[in-house]
Amino acid sequence: MEKKGNELTYPGNIILIGFMGSGKTTVGIRLSYRVRKVVEDTDKLIEKAEGRTISQIFAADGEEAFRRKETEMLKELAARKAQRIYSVGGGTPVREENRPLLKKLGTVIYLRAKAETIYDRLKTDTTRPLLQVEDPKGRIEQLLAQRGAAYEETADHIIDVDQKSCEEIVEEILSVLKIK
Ligand code: S3P
Repeated sequence: MEKKGNELTYPGNIILIGFMGSGKTTVGIRLSYRVRKVVEDTDKLIEKAEGRTISQIFAADGEEAFRRKETEMLKELAARKAQRIYSVGGGTPVREENRPLLKKLGTVIYLRAKAETIYDRLKTDTTRPLLQVEDPKGRIEQLLAQRGAAYEETADHIIDVDQKSCEEIVEEILSVLKIK
């Protein structure tokens, strides 16, 4: 913990990982006010760099091409001096090569959500290409089972988010980071 004027902040980057719909983006925004760090989302950075949405990248180039862009983005972030909060795409920690990159980039917080929570939040979403299938609930369960170990292995801290408000989750993050 560092003191900057009267404000409390945290040294280094804070990385939010977790499944689609686990709340990385909203939690990242709320956390950014509390720790006074700019928040950025790697999906948004990729979309901006490409001038296309994630869905367009998946449709035109395929998932593997998108995964390569994610890894490139992590390498770019590692070269930056600014200390930020980064929320990263739900699949990022799954690629083995990305796990040490994420860990090196900063303190990794895993927002862990159950399949039911995710399904409830994303059942009408059309922006996640991996969930545009006949049985999105089954797909979420399958992907969560495949990915859980990778998320846990990458995380410095795990926060269970089911049935918690964004504010409660942020308070827990501040507490595990010993910011308060
Ligand atoms: C993905 C998660 C998405 C996005 C892409 C693939 C995944 O990000 O990167 O659709 O594999 O879980 P969010 O976790 O921000 O939805």
